[in-house]
Amino acid sequence: MHRHRMLINGELVEAQGGAWIPVLDPSTEEIIAEVPAAGPSDVARAVEAARAAFDSGPWASSTAQERGRLLFKIAQRIRDDAAALAEIESRDCGKPIVEAEYDMQDAATCFEYYGGMATKVLGHVNPVPDNALSLSLREPVGVAGQIIPWNYPLVMAAWKLAPALAAGCTCVLKPAEQTPLTALHIAGWFEQAGFPPGVVNIVTGLGVPAGAALVAHPGTDKIAFTGSAEVGKIILKNAADNIKRVTLELGGKSPNIFFADADFEAAIDGALFGVFINQGEVCSAGSRILVERSIYSRFVEAITEKARSIRLGPPLDRATKMGPLVSREQYERVRGYQELGKKEARLTAGGNRASQFSRGFFVEPTIFADVDNSSRIAREEIFGPVAAVIPFDAERDAVRIANDTPYGLAAAVWTRDIFRALRVVKAVRAGIVWVNHMQPTYVEAPWGGYKQSGFGRELGPWGIDEYLETKQVHINLNEQPIGWYS
Ligand code: NAI
Ligand code: MG
Repeated sequence: MHRHRMLINGELVEAQGGAWIPVLDPSTEEIIAEVPAAGPSDVARAVEAARAAFDSGPWASSTAQERGRLLFKIAQRIRDDAAALAEIESRDCGKPIVEAEYDMQDAATCFEYYGGMATKVLGHVNPVPDNALSLSLREPVGVAGQIIPWNYPLVMAAWKLAPALAAGCTCVLKPAEQTPLTALHIAGWFEQAGFPPGVVNIVTGLGVPAGAALVAHPGTDKIAFTGSAEVGKIILKNAADNIKRVTLELGGKSPNIFFADADFEAAIDGALFGVFINQGEVCSAGSRILVERSIYSRFVEAITEKARSIRLGPPLDRATKMGPLVSREQYERVRGYQELGKKEARLTAGGNRASQFSRGFFVEPTIFADVDNSSRIAREEIFGPVAAVIPFDAERDAVRIANDTPYGLAAAVWTRDIFRALRVVKAVRAGIVWVNHMQPTYVEAPWGGYKQSGFGRELGPWGIDEYLETKQVHINLNEQPIGWYS
């Protein structure tokens, strides 16, 4: 069994306390690796290294071109090593290998995108009414503490590191304790590519103490977090003490809305893909399926039948369409919601552990019909393959139900009526709205939520903006004294 080390100040190190965290293969429940269990002193070393690299190292005087080239190198290494990385990712979090392969390409694309963007960060000339030159400069925020979840481990690391580094920040990244392996696999590459020590630090550890120490440390200027709303709220409160910048990408309970005129087969596919991709462990999962009454029973029948045919299996089997959940904790959460749903609504598919597997955190793709939007399975994020199907009568009912949630990350609407599609797009309170599709995600387009799904945007030019400050510079061109007191 392999012990991995974490990256602090350009060196691969163990935790000072000498403790380790076991990493499981969720399909076999076997321990496949151990990673350092960082404590506050390890986090402090990483933050101090990032602080020094930002304040006085060669990074502070690096050019945008140089930073861009370094990011391209990382992207290329990910592409060159994509097969091995995908296998590690798939074993670590349980996602089907075919999905993991897409993820590795997406991670590489993210480094390329921000590698290119490094040289496109532009300032501004402000038209002030004076004999002066007024400029706005964009400067890096400083040391970024970045805390990520386990559902898309390397993709999430890329979404955090790439824009921050392009902007000129230095980073302390804390992967999720369940899925640290791909981030540690690439940890040594930063130094090899030519990043100065301390610019990228990757610290593995539990939420408490490691994540919490990153938030509490006065040396971090910004915290970027993706994860649960519960932890997002804690981070926001704790970051208040030194007014750290915070961006939060939290969960969702996203509506996937189907009108009767939608292409029926595409709709069935879209409903299942929207909620079951990546075992439903997706922040933008279309976990509330809203269906117009006139097609409701036929729709429920069709998704039920097709859900039963979804192929569960070992993550590394190329035919697998759904793997196990990431951890025992997540398995138990989702099993709890399956049981709760049986009391709250009508079970049509799944509802249990997938009993064909003697080991592993497998659950059946599960559909509940006739769900009341006020029930807990319609309000709480489950983060597993559990769909709540809700009928509606008219467009305004669909919009009202769609918006009746504390969350606002994503939504989708399916119809051939362009007027209706665009009305719904405008009426839904969510950061991402798909029409006749659900889930495609591109580095070029903004990603983030309304309401309790968080704030700030990742990806695109919005993503780098969150790592930049704006400095106003006023250059007086008038050589005479002001003469105010003469
Ligand atoms: P979590 O929010 O506890 O963990 C996410 C990250 O935050 C991990 O790196 C964790 O170590 C860290 N963390 C935990 N507590 C912290 C603290 N007090 N201070 C700083 N960092 C901390 O998510 P968890 O427990 O893995 O999953 C619970 C539920 O959260 C899931 O069932 C799902 O509903 C939701 N979730 C949402 C995600 C999203 O993408 N929006 C991703 C992961 C989970
Ligand atoms: Mg947690």
